[in-house]
Amino acid sequence: MSLTQKIDFPGGGSVEQPLGIFINNEYHKAVDGGTFETINPTTEKPIVALQEATEKDVDLAVAAARKAFEGEWRAVIPEQRAKYLQKLADLMERDAEILAKLESLDNGKAVSMAAGADIPMSIACLRYYAGWSDKIEGRVMDTNPDTFAYTRAEPIGVCGQIIPWNFPLLMWSWKIGPAIATGNVVVMKVAEQTPLTGLYCGKLIKEAGFPPGVINILAGYGKTAGAAIAAHMDVDKVAFTGSTIVGRSIMKAAAGSNLKKVTLELGGKSPNIVFKDADIEQAISWVNFGIYMNHGQCCCAGSRIYVQEEIYDKFLEAFKARAKKNVVGLPHEANTFQGPQVSKVQFDRIMGYIDEGKKAGAKVEIGGERHGNEGYFIQPTIFSGVSEDMKIMQEEIFGPVCSIAKFKTEEDAIKVGNHSTYGLAAAVHTTNINTAIRVANALRAGTVWVNNYNMLHHQLPFGGYKESGIGRELGEAALANYTQTKTVNIRLGGALFG
Ligand code: NAI
Ligand code: MG
Repeated sequence: MSLTQKIDFPGGGSVEQPLGIFINNEYHKAVDGGTFETINPTTEKPIVALQEATEKDVDLAVAAARKAFEGEWRAVIPEQRAKYLQKLADLMERDAEILAKLESLDNGKAVSMAAGADIPMSIACLRYYAGWSDKIEGRVMDTNPDTFAYTRAEPIGVCGQIIPWNFPLLMWSWKIGPAIATGNVVVMKVAEQTPLTGLYCGKLIKEAGFPPGVINILAGYGKTAGAAIAAHMDVDKVAFTGSTIVGRSIMKAAAGSNLKKVTLELGGKSPNIVFKDADIEQAISWVNFGIYMNHGQCCCAGSRIYVQEEIYDKFLEAFKARAKKNVVGLPHEANTFQGPQVSKVQFDRIMGYIDEGKKAGAKVEIGGERHGNEGYFIQPTIFSGVSEDMKIMQEEIFGPVCSIAKFKTEEDAIKVGNHSTYGLAAAVHTTNINTAIRVANALRAGTVWVNNYNMLHHQLPFGGYKESGIGRELGEAALANYTQTKTVNIRLGGALFG
């Protein structure tokens, strides 16, 4: 069986897609010989069959990573790590069009979004962390004249990284960038729904000149390959992005094995709060983007919309009109804003939540149905008449579905805003700077946007309060996830205890 296959893109062009498991800079067959198919969510048909990584492949990848970490990689100076990351970013830039089309095909996201956001943001993230590579520093602490003490920020070692399907290459870059900048080695499992771009970039890793074993990439299922990474005795750290339920199982696996370090970026049910003094037109476009961007498949999606009562009716009418203008269509077409949901499982889950909302007595203002009859498309949906105890107000739907409700005072807005077990993100829309800052400070969320939404940037830390996660990605903050402090305490002489 060949380990590559040509894929033709619906909008023109093609790619020679690697299908194997990327270990030691080569694509391999799966040890158990299994394969699995990745599905095109637009047509519901398979795109290609890939080698399916299981526990044995994880063992091989971890062994390769360990060997690199103890060997060749140790001698690579920080400046050179930066060069590898820059080179990888250059190659991704060279192949940006292929990557955007491949991402769009596999995930269903609009190609304009992949080309305009996912791919350039992935490249920018790698370049940003390239810049950190030679700025990983310790400190000297002056404790007493007979002592010279300093700290080193050392790499943790073999980092298992498990990523989801909503931003496949962006999550890949968020994880690989800081891990490599700080001198670690990586065993990455890409999501089974969207393995293509991450695997393709294995080729670019080799071309960039990374020593074998430094970055290894496996496609396979969570219950097998993912769980094997989380429980592995020779994986020093696991970084995970995905559902809260799997996040918990990863912590348990870490606790039950070698107490590997854990960072988690999990779900959300983020409030988007609009005050009566907001610039309404601006607020509507950010509220619309806040929920419908990436088809609502965004951990920080603004799915609970709270509008001050004086402007509620006017806002709702204008928001409905705005949401109806979102172009739902084939992802490869240039004017498409919203493509299909990623998979049948996600489609069914979201339709289940829509039914749940209807049964609970919420009112469907727009949408509420499947879009078309082929592919996993769902109409942009707005529920009103909701109460805080409804499932659709508490659980992450991860689709183009939001709920809108009224609030009276600033105090009420903060109270409902914080009424969630999650705390990933939130937003405030107001023209009053005092309101903006007071509310931003009072919301228990890792990111608060003021008069915008979903504006992530590689320089800005991102992560969750409460059950939305542990640790921060992006910015300088992410370096802490991938380094451990060593204290070196040197006695210079002098008698013990004077
Ligand atoms: P998931 O959490 O099952 O999948 C995410 C990643 O974890 C995938 O690579 C998967 O293979 C892996 N995984 C699954 N089970 C595992 C296990 N036992 N051990 C180790 N790795 C495992 O998420 P899924 O099922 O695709 O989506 C379910 C829900 O999760 C969504 O509806 C959404 O609410 C949430 N989600 C949140 C994301 C975020 O960005 N925070 C991303 C994807 C999903
Ligand atoms: Mg797919």
